[in-house]
Amino acid sequence: MPLVVLCGFPCSGKSRRAKELNDYLVAGSSGGRKVHIVGDEALGVQRNGVYADSQKERELRGTLRAEVERKLNKEDVVILDSLNYIKGYRYELFCLVKHTQTPHCLIHCLTAPEISSVWNSSREPENQYTQEMFDALVQRFEAPDSRNRWDSPLFTVQKDDTLPLEDICNAIFHRKAPTPNQSTQSQPLSSTNYLHELDKVTQDVVMAILKAQKTSVPGDVIAVPGASEKIELTRTLSMAELRKLQRQFISYTKLHPNENISQLANMFVQYLNKSTH
Ligand SMILES: *[C@@H]1O[C@H](CO)[C@@H](O)[C@H](O)[C@H]1NC(C)=O
Ligand SMILES: *[C@@H]1O[C@H](CO)[C@@H](O)[C@H](O)[C@H]1NC(C)=O
Ligand SMILES: *[C@@H]1O[C@H](CO)[C@@H](O)[C@H](O)[C@H]1NC(C)=O
Ligand SMILES: *[C@@H]1O[C@H](CO)[C@@H](O)[C@H](O)[C@H]1NC(C)=O
Repeated sequence: MPLVVLCGFPCSGKSRRAKELNDYLVAGSSGGRKVHIVGDEALGVQRNGVYADSQKERELRGTLRAEVERKLNKEDVVILDSLNYIKGYRYELFCLVKHTQTPHCLIHCLTAPEISSVWNSSREPENQYTQEMFDALVQRFEAPDSRNRWDSPLFTVQKDDTLPLEDICNAIFHRKAPTPNQSTQSQPLSSTNYLHELDKVTQDVVMAILKAQKTSVPGDVIAVPGASEKIELTRTLSMAELRKLQRQFISYTKLHPNENISQLANMFVQYLNKSTH
């Protein structure tokens, strides 16, 4: 039966949402399901140690995936409660459910880092993240995008949102797509949403540049979506270099936020222009 994948920053409320969904499914308004929660918590993972070591982290992801694979069967619901922040990993999970021919959905806990920090300090010491580890994981996070098959259907929940339990059940038991409000419409700006937008706007600019470079020569002026200022490239930029500049700009902007989203694209264009001249 279905797989529900949670994702989000550390301490963003994933385990709380997993438990809410578990309780709802077990209680039976949806027929009294058997639920398995697979995750860091259940495995007793030493988070700061594991996530600081890419080899150990890879092993953990493998262990979790194997556990999901073992638990997926015809009757039960499996909830994967881990960071699941790597796009490629979510894609692997998607392939797994496709192979088992079972539905899946993704729940993104979109919680502001400041709130996560508060939730971190109320945890048992062994489950707390150091500031350094937390920042690194926020930086590495690859936000889900419901336009990707493997990130869809996507339910985005913020701190005070009610978990859309019925829509989730419809998605995983009846394969009904969620209502547009759940995942596709843009929401009013909030600081959590800002990070999402920042990711999206810069991503669109990077893609536009990569596309334009196929037909342009150095010195050409390139227009990018959302920006009134045009970008003048003195040389061809590789995907790796663009990604690096994108990450730097995102880190910088997180520390110096300008909440006027309509200016983000222009700011990124100026940043690219400055960094490549
Ligand atoms: C988590 O809490 C511990 C203990 O209060 C603290 O040392 C650490 O910096 C906190 N981490 C974050 C990301 O707030
Ligand atoms: C979507 O949200 C708007 C505004 O909150 C509301 O008026 C509308 O009925 C919602 N649509 C659905 C399909 O829930
Ligand atoms: C956001 O930036 C745009 C473009 O510079 C400007 O027209 C608009 O007034 C700004 N909005 C706010 C709320 O500052
Ligand atoms: C890009 O940089 C060049 C050289 O520093 C400058 O002349 C130009 O005005 C800049 N353009 C933008 C859009 O920032």
